[in-house]
Amino acid sequence: MRIIEKVSEMQQQADAWRREGKRIALVPTMGYLHRGHLTLMQKARNHADIVVMSVFVNPIQFGPGEDFERYPRDMERDVRLAKEVGVDVAFSPSATDMYPEGYQTHIEVTEVTRPLCGKSRPGHFQGVTTVVGKLFHIVKPHTAIFGEKDFQQLVAIRRMVKDLNMDIEILGHPIVREEDGLAMSSRNVYLNSEQRKNALRLSQSLREAQTLVRQGERNSAAVLARVRNILEAGKDMRIDYAEMRHPETLQEASQIEGPVLLALAVFVGATRLIDNRVLNASA
Ligand code: PAF
Repeated sequence: MRIIEKVSEMQQQADAWRREGKRIALVPTMGYLHRGHLTLMQKARNHADIVVMSVFVNPIQFGPGEDFERYPRDMERDVRLAKEVGVDVAFSPSATDMYPEGYQTHIEVTEVTRPLCGKSRPGHFQGVTTVVGKLFHIVKPHTAIFGEKDFQQLVAIRRMVKDLNMDIEILGHPIVREEDGLAMSSRNVYLNSEQRKNALRLSQSLREAQTLVRQGERNSAAVLARVRNILEAGKDMRIDYAEMRHPETLQEASQIEGPVLLALAVFVGATRLIDNRVLNASA
């Protein structure tokens, strides 16, 4: 597996692959890979001749006081794991190569980034769409793959690609969970054993919500009340949001008619975890 650190080198390589008629898949990551990332890379392998993973802890998607400095990093391990699932290139640029002095251009997707994480983390999605847009120009992929745990991120990226006529196929992949239900996240390493146990309340509340809907509950407020009960019963847990939204527009859904996204962000101690499930009356 080759490691490319320079933006210009990555662009030249991507041009060469395209001239040879090769199909390129990109899996953007911030590194510290877990099984969820590796599943995305395996999926990418089935959709392209060349699989590129980017590893870049993107400073502009972290707000003041967030965990940019302490975000876990282990490039050596990431390279080893990615190699095992057949990644061809790890693209790992420096922040100064991505955002040289004088940098001043950003991509903003408006409506779908306003609620949920957009409300609690101002500027976050502008940072995400900007870096993903840049990665698309650098790696020149035909397809790019994102996990559905960051559901709102995926909605925003799909919107950006559509609105800016980017000729890239965007694939989502279902959340990969630990055996006990915890959604995989690089931030799970922040949890101590008691917090790890409490964090299970997120996936538990999503399962309970789906059960209520299957049993005939159609009122979002009633389902959310049960979800909140489960989450708030956990020690040292604070709900940032628990909301029902239309899965494409992310507009509020007061009734469950057709698929509805139940999206959660919860602080367990100081660690903010997100999780979600698309609830469906027929599931
Ligand atoms: O989901 C992530 O890890 C990041 O938001 C992404 C898409 C790699 C952009 O930095």
